[in-house]
Amino acid sequence: MTRIFEPFRIKSVEPIKFTTKTDREKFLKEAHNNVFLVKAKNVLIDLLTDSGTSAMSAQQWGAMMVGDESYAGAESYYHFEAAVKNIMGFKHIIPTHQGRAAEKIIGSLMGGKGKSFVSNSFFDTTRGNIEFSGAEAIDFLTAEGKQPSLIADFKGNMDTVALEHYIQQRGAENIPLCVLTITNNSGGGQPVSMQNIKETSAICKKYGILFFIDACRFAENAYFIKTREKGYENKSILEICQETFSYADGCTMSAKKDALVNIGGFICMNDDKLAMEAKNLLIIMEGFPTYGGLAGRDLEAIAQGLHEVLEEDYLEYRIGTMKYIGEKLTAAGVPILQPTGGHAVYLDAKAFMAHIPPHQLPGIALTNALYIEGGIRGVEIGSLMFGKYDEKGAYVPATLELVRLAIPRRVYTQSHMDYMCDVIIDVYKQRTQYKGYKITYEAPLLRHFTAHMEAL
Ligand code: F0G
Repeated sequence: MTRIFEPFRIKSVEPIKFTTKTDREKFLKEAHNNVFLVKAKNVLIDLLTDSGTSAMSAQQWGAMMVGDESYAGAESYYHFEAAVKNIMGFKHIIPTHQGRAAEKIIGSLMGGKGKSFVSNSFFDTTRGNIEFSGAEAIDFLTAEGKQPSLIADFKGNMDTVALEHYIQQRGAENIPLCVLTITNNSGGGQPVSMQNIKETSAICKKYGILFFIDACRFAENAYFIKTREKGYENKSILEICQETFSYADGCTMSAKKDALVNIGGFICMNDDKLAMEAKNLLIIMEGFPTYGGLAGRDLEAIAQGLHEVLEEDYLEYRIGTMKYIGEKLTAAGVPILQPTGGHAVYLDAKAFMAHIPPHQLPGIALTNALYIEGGIRGVEIGSLMFGKYDEKGAYVPATLELVRLAIPRRVYTQSHMDYMCDVIIDVYKQRTQYKGYKITYEAPLLRHFTAHMEAL
C-alpha cells in the first residue's frame, strides 16, 4: 500500500504545538524520564492509547446536542440500546462509564476465592477486577500468538485444546466465565477467527460455562475476518459482527475504542437473573440502569459511533494504516511485532535496542528516544510494566520488551504517520547511542504509570 486514503474531511481542528529537541529533553527530565508524566500539550504525536482518543464525527457532535438528560427512561438510552442490539443482539444492555466498570460488575458477581476465569488473553483491567475478587485469571493464547516475528492470520486465537484440557482438570463448576478478547490487545491487537469464536463457544456450551466477549475492538476484528477468513469475503461487517455475538452469552465493552467516543462502556447478557443482579450493582456503583454513569449525550454519541464504525471504507483506512506503518518500518529493517494488528504497531525493543539488557529497560530507552527525537509518545510494554522481583529480591524481566504505538481513530493523517515512521527509522539508525535506565522510584502496584527513572 502506498497511500492511506482518509475517508473523511476535517471540519474542526486542534493545533499541535511544536517543540524543539532541547524543549523535550527538559520536559522529559521534569517528568522523571516517564512519558506518562509529560503534559499532553508537549507531545507532538500522542500514541499512548487508542482508548477515548477518537475524533468524533459531525453527526456524533450533532447527536450530542439532542441528548435526553432525564434520570430514568431517557430517549437517548433507547437509541443507544437499539444500536447495541442491532449489532450484538443480547437481551439486556446496561450502560457503564467505561469498560472496566463493566468488568468490575463481572468480577463482583461471578468472582471470589477458588474460582478460575479463562481467556485467550485477559486485558489488565479485566484481570485486575477478577483477581481483586480473590479469583484467578488464566490465559490460553494460541502458540502462534507467542512468536513475535511469525506471520499468521489469527494470532489472537484461543488455544482451544489447552482450554478444554484445563476445564477437564479444574472442573467446570470452578470456572464461572470464559472471555474471548477481540481483537486481542495484550497479544498485539491480533484478531480472533470466527472458527475460533465458534469452537470456544462450543466448548463452553459443552461444559456449561458462561461465554462472554470482551468486545472493545469488535469491528476491527470483523474486518480481519472479512479479509482473511474463507467464506466471509462477501458478508457485510454488520453480518459478521452479528454472527460473532450470536455465539456468546454476553459481552463487556469499552465504547472508548470501537464506538468512536471519548467515554463510555456497557455490559450485555441474555440471562435474566444475571442482568437483574448486574443492574442492582450498577445502581450503587454507576447509576440508574438507563444511564449507568453516562450523560444522555454520551449515549447518543455511542449510538451514532456504533453505526459509523461498521463502514467498510473506515475499516479499510483503519486497518490499512497499521499495515502501511508496518510495511514502511519493516522495509527499513525496524523490528516489529508481525503482522500488524488492528489498533497499534508494536516495536520489538529487545531486538531494536539489543545493546541494552532487559534490567536496563530497553523499552523505556526506545520510548524516551522517540519522545526526545520526535515528540512521539508511545508506551513501554516490557520490563517496566511487567518486570517483577522474586522472593529473594532478584529481578525477573518481562518475556517481551515491546513499545506500543496505539493509533487514535480518525485523528492523524498520512503525513503524521510518515513523520512518525521517519523518526522511528532515524532512531533505529543511531540506536547504539541510546542508554538504558534505572528506576529511582516505584509504586507497589502498576509502577509504570508513576515510576521515576534515570538514564545510566
Ligand atoms: N478490554 C480491553 C481489551 C482493553 O483494551 C481495555 C482498555 C479495556 C478492556 C478496559 O476498558 O479503559 O474503558 O476501562 N484498554 C486501553 C488501552 C486502556 O490503552 O489499551 P476501559
